Amino acid sequence: MSELADFLRSRLGVGAHVIDDSDALAPYAHDESGIGRFVPTCAVQARHAEDVQAVLAVSRERRVPVIPRGAGTGKAGAALAEQGGIVLSLERMNRILEISPEDGVAVVEPGVILKTLMDAVEARGLFYPPDPNSLNACSIGGNIAHNAGGPRALKYGVTADYVLGLKAVLPSGELIRTGHRSIKGVAGLDLTHLIVGSEGTLAIVVEATLQLLPLPRRVETGLALFPSEAHAAQAVLNIFADGHLPRACELFDAASMRLVTPKAPFKFPEGVGGALLFEFDGNGDQVADELVRAGELCTAAGALTVLAAQSDAQRRQMWETRRLVSVAMMEAKPHKISEDVAVPRGKLVEMIAEARRIGERHGIATASYGHAGDGNLHVNLLFNSAAERAAGQAAIDEVLRAALALGGTITGEHGVGIAKRAFLPLELGAEVMALQRRLKAAFDPENLLNPGKVLG
Ligand code: LAC
Ligand code: ZN
Repeated sequence: MSELADFLRSRLGVGAHVIDDSDALAPYAHDESGIGRFVPTCAVQARHAEDVQAVLAVSRERRVPVIPRGAGTGKAGAALAEQGGIVLSLERMNRILEISPEDGVAVVEPGVILKTLMDAVEARGLFYPPDPNSLNACSIGGNIAHNAGGPRALKYGVTADYVLGLKAVLPSGELIRTGHRSIKGVAGLDLTHLIVGSEGTLAIVVEATLQLLPLPRRVETGLALFPSEAHAAQAVLNIFADGHLPRACELFDAASMRLVTPKAPFKFPEGVGGALLFEFDGNGDQVADELVRAGELCTAAGALTVLAAQSDAQRRQMWETRRLVSVAMMEAKPHKISEDVAVPRGKLVEMIAEARRIGERHGIATASYGHAGDGNLHVNLLFNSAAERAAGQAAIDEVLRAALALGGTITGEHGVGIAKRAFLPLELGAEVMALQRRLKAAFDPENLLNPGKVLG
């Protein structure tokens, strides 16, 4: 029993739950970054915005850090209690408050699981496109904090493109509203999109107004197998050059296929060096026509085989196989490090080749896969032990620098958190780092909200 926990209990409303038992705290000590375990002094499960305000008041009085947490599926360590303190979990604020087909919006609390929201809006003929691979487990609040992307970002954009407005609590305890419910709105500085992607360092989101689209009535999915990943990457460029915009275009290299196949419903055949999973959507017959044309373009780029999903079940098999890659790799290579660099699409072939060269130079096996259509590549360095991993930092450094040299970014979707903060100045430069620190100080002058994350 900690004194801080008792103090929190005395301040919190009915329904909020304070955890300080060490077993019950265990789930709050890690995320999916593999960075390590950091047990907080206590965790609070908030039920209402007032609970969030009360926790931040305690944080100011006691000068203890508060670490906001969604579903714990983050890959960069932003929800880890690195400096101890109070983990503030939003998992119980999980109500869908409203779905309005008329306005094309949903109003949600942050703890709603993404898949729950997707299913609820699709049942009404509506569509919430952002689809990070963790969609069965991750929460909207975490998606907002990280500006999550996913395969469909290619056509539909990322979480930020769907966040119209927020209700958020500032470190001062003030409850603010930002943005609007209308699709458009340009009044004042865009605080909504400053908070989106800030990884819980500026404010704690307690409600979000999200834009919804009409649900496309047709979806067509294809899978092309190539002799190498370079052929597959070239096919991506050819599909765009011919004037098509798939809603997703996902690439696998040989190592990714080899690692996922034992677990996956779709078994990649031996001897295939690269694959492309591509998908079109819309309302008319042209969706199927585009799939056929993309298949022809893959064949022209050297595809050995092109398959088209003949049923929803086949489509699901293909996607389940794609969604299993990260998990399968982690199981097969627990010491692996997964980067999520993104480069301009035209530099994709070079980035893939560069990642392979870096691995070869350092004697480290690599596996690359990811959101090829938007140049967002998951470069995995497959270390065999913790010692190899520690010795392999130079290779990681080179992968990130290669992405920057190609005009890209060190993180296309997973965020900075703890994992990439040492590299952030490389991308942003000193002036922008300083400006970002001033912005952080304007929101959080005492540096109590998720301190040390992102900006160091
Ligand atoms: C993926 C996750 C790791 O695309 O971002 O598989
Ligand atoms: Zn991804």
